[in-house]
Amino acid sequence: MTVATTALPLALVRRGKVRDVYAVDDTRLLLVATDRVSAFDVVMAEAVPFKGAVLTQLTAWWLDQLDGIVAHHMLSADADEIVRQVPALAPHRQLLGGRAMLSRRADVFPVECVIRGYLAGSAWKEYQASGTLAGESLPAGLRESSRLTPPLFSPATKAETGHDENITIPRMREIVGDEVATRLERLSRDIYAFGARAAEPRGIILADTKFEFGHSGGEILLIDEVMTPDSSRFWPADQYTPGRSQPSFDKQPLRDYLDGERRAGRWNGEAPPPTLPAAVVEATSARYLDAFRRLTGRPLDTSALA
Ligand SMILES: Nc1ncnc2c1ncn2[C@@H]1O[C@H](COP(=O)(O)OP(=O)(O)OP(=O)(O)O)[C@@H](O)[C@H]1O
Ligand SMILES: [Mg+2]
Repeated sequence: MTVATTALPLALVRRGKVRDVYAVDDTRLLLVATDRVSAFDVVMAEAVPFKGAVLTQLTAWWLDQLDGIVAHHMLSADADEIVRQVPALAPHRQLLGGRAMLSRRADVFPVECVIRGYLAGSAWKEYQASGTLAGESLPAGLRESSRLTPPLFSPATKAETGHDENITIPRMREIVGDEVATRLERLSRDIYAFGARAAEPRGIILADTKFEFGHSGGEILLIDEVMTPDSSRFWPADQYTPGRSQPSFDKQPLRDYLDGERRAGRWNGEAPPPTLPAAVVEATSARYLDAFRRLTGRPLDTSALA
């Protein structure tokens, strides 16, 4: 069963491109990662089998290990436990399997904490145009996908539509205050370093990633999804070649197909997207499952996920 959208008996807080977020009560949220997939900021019509479970279970896997590094929002990513804690969800147990995370509800800091170990995406675009990132100069002579040592902390604000906007660190300090800005940068660096180190022996480069933080009861919490393919760039290490864009571990079959449709003049890059062939959906599903298996060292248990 794939799940493209959900309708649970809770108050819907937000439907993102991929996640449906519900309020359980004042202190708890239910985050449900659907099987929706987006590319080039457009959500596809097809759902990708097991993608939602990969996102949620990978986040849970990281959070378990980050216990000593940062406090986080996860209460449970186990559907049986979630149903025990929120009995109204019992009729939806099957749908929740693997996909749902019960979380402490935080007041969200309105900055996306992006940390980049390699120069890619919007950072590469800006660097190419002006040698800067969010207006700050970077060393000369960097190439596309060059490694950045030390990693670059490059906050952004979340745009309601389209691309997020990179902001300067002084701007971030204005938004969240000096003390919080310093703490969020420190935490982002520590979590990224942990993730990149864990991914490396698995043959995956964690090129960059985005964290969100909130606060609750005077404590800073890591929230949202954590070091998933949707919030990060995962690159196959054995194909890494600076000076060009890198294949994406997870979405490359999808991107290649869409690029082909664009070049053929059959798609203008905006919604609605073209219909995806079943083979592209299958290949994307296989990539997500493979990313999970490689990173965690064990396959995602799909037996219980109908
Ligand atoms: N513990 C939490 N407390 C409060 N808000 C949270 C928590 N965890 C996540 N969120 C919020 O949940 C929302 C998830 O919606 P979001 O729009 O990011 O969905 P998405 O599917 O990831 O879409 P996109 O791909 O556009 O990011 C975010 O706004 C995030 O700040
Ligand atoms: Mg998001």
